[in-house]
Amino acid sequence: MLISLLRSALLLPRRLLPGVSGYIAAEKKKVVDKMQSGGTSSKNNRRAELPTIGLGEEVIKDLETLKAKDVDWQGKCSGTVYIAGSESEGHFELINKAYSMFSHTNPLHQDVFKSVANMEAEVVAMTAALLGSKEKSSGGQICGNMTSGGTESILLAVKTSRDYMRSKKGITKPEMIIAESAHSAYDKAAAYFNIKVRRVPVNKEFLADVKGFKRCINGNTIMMVGSAPGFPHGLIDPIEELGELASRYDICLHVDLCLGGFVLPFARKLGYPIPPFDFSVKGVTSISSDVHKYGLAPKGTSVVLYRNHEIRKHQFVAVTEWTGGLYISPTIAGSRPGGLIAGAWAAMMSLGLNGYLDSTSRIMEVSKKIQRGIEEIPGLFVIGKPDMTVVAFGSDVVDIFEVNDIMSSKGWHLNALQRPNSLHICVTLQHTTVYNEFLKDLQDSVNTVKANPGPISGGMAPIYGAAGKMPDRGTVRELLVEFMDSSC
Ligand SMILES: *Cc1c(COP(=O)(O)O)cnc(C)c1O
Ligand SMILES: *[C@@H]1O[C@H](CO)[C@@H](O)[C@H](O)[C@H]1NC(C)=O
Repeated sequence: MLISLLRSALLLPRRLLPGVSGYIAAEKKKVVDKMQSGGTSSKNNRRAELPTIGLGEEVIKDLETLKAKDVDWQGKCSGTVYIAGSESEGHFELINKAYSMFSHTNPLHQDVFKSVANMEAEVVAMTAALLGSKEKSSGGQICGNMTSGGTESILLAVKTSRDYMRSKKGITKPEMIIAESAHSAYDKAAAYFNIKVRRVPVNKEFLADVKGFKRCINGNTIMMVGSAPGFPHGLIDPIEELGELASRYDICLHVDLCLGGFVLPFARKLGYPIPPFDFSVKGVTSISSDVHKYGLAPKGTSVVLYRNHEIRKHQFVAVTEWTGGLYISPTIAGSRPGGLIAGAWAAMMSLGLNGYLDSTSRIMEVSKKIQRGIEEIPGLFVIGKPDMTVVAFGSDVVDIFEVNDIMSSKGWHLNALQRPNSLHICVTLQHTTVYNEFLKDLQDSVNTVKANPGPISGGMAPIYGAAGKMPDRGTVRELLVEFMDSSC
C-alpha cells in the first residue's frame, strides 16, 4: 500500500505541483523509517557524552556485552567474513596478534618504523607476483602500494589514470567507461575526481560488452574497467579483448581484482579454467586486489598495482609550500595503521602458497556444490556461468526478494541485486560446513513463497521491488541519502 502510494506519487511532475512535494516528503520519511526499522531503538540508547569517571578496565566488559548483541554471523553471511572459524582461534588469533604487536606503528614515519615499511613493500611485491609481475610480458616494472581497502585502491587507480592521461594526452574533461556490473567505488571515484562515468549495460552473458565499450570511446576517455570477477554475479569480464581495445586507443585499463586477486591465481593452479586477467595481458595499466577479502588478512588492507613507475608517479601528491615542511604521501590517508600492514603480512606469510591453494580448493568446491544445488531448485536460475566463488540467482516464478526475506528470517544475510532482480551468495571458508543447510533453507524459502506469495511483515521485498522499478532514479538516490543521514 505504502509502496504503491509512493510509486504513484513519484510519477507526478512534482516540481509543478506545490502540494505534492510535502506529500512525497512524508511518504519518503515512511520508507526511510521502514528501512531503518530496528536501528532506531539502539539509537535512543546511544551515549552522547564521555563518562564523567572513566571506566578503566571495566570497559572491556562493556565491549563484551556490545559484541554479544551482534547477530550470529558464523557461516550465515554472503562474503563479510572470509576467514574460517571464530575470531578467537586459529588464523584469526594469529592476525590479531600480529596487529596488536604493531598497532602503535605508522608507516608515515618510515624513519622510525622500518619494520612496517618493509612489510608493506613485501605485501605489495608478493601480491604483484601473483598477478603477473614475474611474467616477461608484464614489462618487469610492476609497482604499487597498500591501501585501506578495495575502494581506496580503486580511487587511487582512477585518480592516477586521470592524471596520467592528462599529462600524456592533455585530457581535461575526463570520462571513464565501466560495465553496469562494475563496483560502486567507480562512481565514488568519479564523484570525487570530477570524471564522467559511462556505465554500459552488460551483454547476454552478463559480461562487459566490448562493442558497447568501444562505442563510448572518444577523445576524453581516460580509462576502461574490467572486473575479474564483478561483485554482483562473480563473472570475469573479457580482459584480453578490453586490453586490446585499450592498447588500440592508448587509454588506461584497470582490472578490478578486489574479489578475485587472492582466488584466481590459485584456482588456475588447481586446474580451473580461468581466462587471462592480470598484467600478462597487454593493455592492463592497473589492478586492485583486496588482501582483506580472500587474502584472509584483517579488514582495512588492499593493494593497488601499476604497470610501471611512470604511471604510478601520478598517484603521489607532493606538497612544497607548507610551513610543516616538504611533504609527500603515497596514498589517500596520511597516518596509516602499521598494525594492519603487519596483519596482512602475517596472513600471507603464515598461509603461503600451499595455504591459499588449500583454502581456494575448499571454497571452489563448495561454490560448485552451491551452484548445482541452486540449479536443482525448481523456479530458480543461476545468472551466467560463475567463474569463481560468487553464485547469483533469480527466479521467473517467485519474487526473489520475498525469498530473501524468508532467508533473512532464518538468519541468512544474502546480497540483493537488481537488473535482473536476484540474490547472491559470496562463498567463504565460513560456508564449507553449512552449505547443505543453506541449500535446504533456500529450497524451503522458495516453497514458502510459492505457497504464500506476497510480502511478509517487516520484509524488505516491497522496497527493493519498488526501488528497482521507479523510473525516477533521482528520487531513489534521495531516499538512500535520507536513509544514511537519518541513521545517526
Ligand atoms: C569488495 C569489492 C570492491 C570494494 O572493496 P572494499 O574493500 O569494500 O572497499 C570493489 N570491487 C569488487 C569487485 C569488490 O568485490
Ligand atoms: C608506496 O610507494 C612509494 C614509492 O615506492 C614508497 O615510498 C612507499 O613506501 C610505498 N608505500 C607502500 C605502502 O608500499
